Amino acid sequence: MNIKLSAQNLNISFGQKQVLKNINVAFAENEITALIGPSGCGKSTLLRSFNRMHDLSPDAKISGNLKLEDLDLYDKTVPVTEIRKRIGMVFQKANPFPKSIYENIAYGLKINNLPHGIDVIEKALREAFLWEEVKNDLKMPATRLSGGQQQRLCIARAVALRPEVILMDEPCSALDPVSTLKIEELIMHLKKKYTITIVTHNMQQAQRIADKTVFLYLGEVKEEGPTSQIFNNPKEEMTMNYIKGSFG
Ligand SMILES: Nc1ncnc2c1ncn2[C@@H]1O[C@H](COP(=O)(O)OP(=O)(O)O)[C@@H](O)[C@H]1O
Ligand SMILES: [Mg+2]
Repeated sequence: MNIKLSAQNLNISFGQKQVLKNINVAFAENEITALIGPSGCGKSTLLRSFNRMHDLSPDAKISGNLKLEDLDLYDKTVPVTEIRKRIGMVFQKANPFPKSIYENIAYGLKINNLPHGIDVIEKALREAFLWEEVKNDLKMPATRLSGGQQQRLCIARAVALRPEVILMDEPCSALDPVSTLKIEELIMHLKKKYTITIVTHNMQQAQRIADKTVFLYLGEVKEEGPTSQIFNNPKEEMTMNYIKGSFG
């Protein structure tokens, strides 16, 4: 098992507030890892730290190591664009550009100097299970797609850049159950090629798709392990209470 993405002794503060405390996590290649925990425990902060999204927060203080295999993600000689090409991100609210479906995918390819012909666009849309639904409407504004389609377009946009890792922050929380299941199916398909880390508040979703689960509580990793162990036989009482829905 090859560790693709990892954090060692990671601490993150915003001003006086320490949000992540001595985090040590490792995400394996071709696996799906779910990050769970109550609101405000630092899940998004952790996910965003991997593609340097705190760079623009002047009060963010980060210590420890974040690595993509052996690459130090905070090595100032590595351009952030390179990191974001190798580590894609999908957000809670689908955020297509105000452009056509075609341009949504072509744009990122162009700015990364990658081929952006129709064959490449088709491949990305197929990989995101969207091609059949949009192949006759590639010039249509992406904002006219349904929420679930927009989210799959954002996934297509990420995979078009041939990333190694895809980070997803509650990608289904704004979607209906049918769209959610479609995205879950897509995520399970994508893990054959990518390493996937997903934040979810949906405990059924974590159990359906994740190989490993990490439970965060108040900025610390409380427990982690194979998903079936975390949900069926958690070691910590706090984990048990959270997955049973006692707090959240
Ligand atoms: N850029 C920021 N500046 C200040 N505080 C932040 C920033 N980002 C997150 N926080 C704080 O960090 C804590 C954890 O937030 P977050 O990582 O979004 O939690 P989660 O995703 O688990 O709900 C919250 O108290 C939040 O207000
Ligand atoms: Mg969050």
